[in-house]
Amino acid sequence: MKRIAFALLGVAAALPAGAAPQGDAPTTPYFVANCFNCHGTEGKGNTAIPSLAGRDRAFLEESLKVYKAGGKPATIMHQLAKGYTDEEIAVLADYFSRQK
Ligand code: HEC
Repeated sequence: MKRIAFALLGVAAALPAGAAPQGDAPTTPYFVANCFNCHGTEGKGNTAIPSLAGRDRAFLEESLKVYKAGGKPATIMHQLAKGYTDEEIAVLADYFSRQK
């Protein structure tokens, strides 16, 4: 059992650390998926929670920043928004605004 654990550690260590996309190739950041559970896959929701796909980029970015600052009443988004930097918020807004 110990052997297997060490073997797995070896694999994990072999993976490139922080395989963050470089350059200007448009890649989808992993953290957009954090929003899919509530807002629907790719932001296309069909519930009481507002859909994000295709919404105005500036609106999305502003909403998240206002939630983060506690300036908009919310049940959950004020907590969630605090987990993202302004740069990440910009990426999220850009991603969801580009979904059809
Ligand atoms: C646990 C469920 C949940 C998750 C996860 C979640 N949201 Fe929300 N979101 C909500 C709810 C509920 C609202 C309505 C405001 C409130 O009550 O917090 C909302 C509102 C919003 C709004 C405002 C929409 C409008 O029409 O006013 C935006 C923008 C938003 N969320 C973006 C995101 C983004 C981006 C993520 C991923 C980082 C995310 N949300 C993750 C539940 C969630």
